[in-house]
This record gives sequence, structure tokens and C-alpha cells, in this order.
Amino acid sequence: MLASRPLGFPSSENFRIEKTVLNELKDNEVLLKSWYISVDPYMRGRMNSIKSYAASFEVDQPIIGGVVAKVIESKSKTVLKGDIVVGMLPWATYCIEKSENLRKIDIRKVPPGYYLGILGMPGFTAYFGMMEIGKPIKGETVVVSGAAGAVGIVAGQIAKIQGSRVIGITGSDEKCRLLKEQFGYDEAINYKTSKSVRKEIAILCPEGVDVYFDNVGGEITDAVVANLDFHARIALCGQISQYNNTKPPVGPSILPILLTRSVMLQGYIVRNYSDRFGEAITHLSKWMEDGKLKYTETIIEGFDNLPVAFLGLFSGKNQGKMLIKTE
Ligand SMILES: NC(=O)c1ccc[n+]([C@@H]2O[C@H](COP(=O)([O-])OP(=O)(O)OC[C@H]3O[C@@H](n4cnc5c(N)ncnc54)[C@H](OP(=O)(O)O)[C@@H]3O)[C@@H](O)[C@H]2O)c1
Repeated sequence: MLASRPLGFPSSENFRIEKTVLNELKDNEVLLKSWYISVDPYMRGRMNSIKSYAASFEVDQPIIGGVVAKVIESKSKTVLKGDIVVGMLPWATYCIEKSENLRKIDIRKVPPGYYLGILGMPGFTAYFGMMEIGKPIKGETVVVSGAAGAVGIVAGQIAKIQGSRVIGITGSDEKCRLLKEQFGYDEAINYKTSKSVRKEIAILCPEGVDVYFDNVGGEITDAVVANLDFHARIALCGQISQYNNTKPPVGPSILPILLTRSVMLQGYIVRNYSDRFGEAITHLSKWMEDGKLKYTETIIEGFDNLPVAFLGLFSGKNQGKMLIKTE
């Protein structure tokens, strides 16, 4: 559970494990054993007390997030013992939930964790951000920051499927290699070792960037925006480089560039598209079946390692989706 609210970078001190006794099952409830637990950057915002699009976690209460779980006991007619389900559940080894809050999943064709990644919230985020806001077309140049993460790895491949040239920005040479060799990125920039991300993009994109899928914000975004072409589109998905700031960021304003180059910038929350998640699942599944879309996960074993996995997101410890496997 959340032991305290972090100021700046979170630490393991902000989390605590507690033992509780669960109640008896009531009608329409099921007893669940957590199997895969998702850690996501947006959870950092929920650790603050500031009002945002998602309610804050409460101190001394369990953290809630995406979980794939096994049904151990059931008093539901629709969700039965032995089913595998996904839902927004507490970080807990076992919990009780109403069956109406759970979705049954089929793990015969894809690994269970994919329902927390490519076939879950991060995959939907990549799909709608790229298809509805970025709208890349054949021959255009697309840049994705946070390119080797849960969302970015899918966003870049979707742009490739649309026929674009795709450049990823990420934090290690190994991730750059992965993007190019396994995920079809045309080029990749290691922002941690680059002397100038701005100049590298200028060299790689001599005609400018048409679509920027922004997962990180900050200096990386300044570097990309300086290279935008006229009528470029920015899908403003995330700003992870700013999540642990204790003061509002100051830096070069990108607005004059957006104005003079007629750029369209749109922020979005994946929930805006919740009535269309089925469409995303259909397309993402089909592209996977056709071999056009691949995914990867970083799985850390052990429930107790949840804080380690979560904190690892802010230092780039993951390739693809970061997950905890409880057993
Ligand atoms: N709009 C929405 O509805 C929505 C939904 C889901 C996620 N998001 C946002 O999308 C972004 C990606 O989420 P995700 O789940 O795919 O996470 P993720 O990319 O799997 O994990 C976070 C990654 O961010 C990079 N990173 C961490 N600190 C950074 C910094 N200071 N500067 C640059 N890169 C940094 C790290 O990779 P490197 O090794 O490359 O540094 C790390 O692996 C996040 O900003 C998240 O908040 C938005």
C-alpha cells in the first residue's frame, strides 16, 4: 500500500506491505489470486494529492492498478473458478472483487501479461494516439520518444504499418539495437549518450518530422519540436521526464515553433476512447497474427518487488511492458 506521498523521486520508503484478513465471499463476488501486476508511469501522478484526471491513491490504502488474476473461488454465475481475468485491482496477493468489474481473458494465443500491455491500456494508448492524432501516412517521418517502452514500442510499429519512416528515441544502445533489429524502427537515438538530440534528428530527418509521438516531454521534446515540418502533428501522450519535478519546468517555449509551422498538438487520455477499445483490440490482434506487430515484456518475479519494478520505470529498467509476476 501507499505508505507516504513522495516529494520528487519516489523511493521504496513510500510503499509498505501489510497483512489483512479477507471477508467471506458474497453473491456475485470472486476470490482472486494475482498473477501479473502492472506498474505504470501514470501511477506516479496518483501518488500525489493533486487533483487530476485519475483520483489520488490514499495514504495507508492499497495501490490500485491493472492486474491479471486467477479465480480461486467464485460466487458468480458468469466468472467461474479457474477463469483468468483482468481488472483494476489492488496491489495484493489475493483479493475479493465483484465479477462485473472483471473481464475474462483468453491466454491460449498470447501471454497473460499482454492484456496489461499491447492488448491493454498501453496498446490502446499507442493505437489511438497514432491513428487518431498522429495519422501518419506513407512516406512521412515519425519520431517516437520513450520508444522502447510499453506504449512507444507499439506506437512506432503502428507508424511503420502505415508506411512511414520511424525514428525512436530511447535511453540505451541496447534499446536502440532492439528497436531497429526486432521492432522495425528505421533509426534510433540514444538520448543519454547523444551530444545533441536536436542535431541528430536534423541529420536523420532532413525534410523535417511530420508526426511526433511524445511520451517523455522536457528537453527531448524541445529537440524534436525544433525539427518539425510544416503541418506536423504531435500526439501528446506522456511527459515522464517531468513526473518527479518538484517545481514547474522552465525552458524554451515550443509555442512559437508550433505557430510558425502550423503544427497541430493534441494531448489525450486513453480513456477518451474507451467506447472504441474493441476496435483497438481487433486491429492490434490482427496485426500480431499477420506478424506485423511484435511485443516484449520485462517481467520481475515476486510480489515484494512491486516497488522495485515501479521505480525502475523512471530509470529505464524496462524494455516493453514492465510487469511483476507473483509466482
Ligand atoms: N495519455 C495516456 O492515456 C497514457 C496512457 C499510458 C501511458 N501514458 C504515458 O506514456 C508514457 C509511456 O508510458 P509506458 O507505460 O509506455 O512507460 P514505459 O515507456 O514502458 O516506461 C517508462 C520509460 O520512460 C523512459 N524514461 C524514464 N524517465 C525518463 C526521462 N527522464 N527522460 C526520458 N525518458 C525517460 C524510460 O526509458 P528510456 O530507457 O528510454 O529512458 C522508461 O523505460 C508515459 O509518459 C506515460 O505516462 C499516457
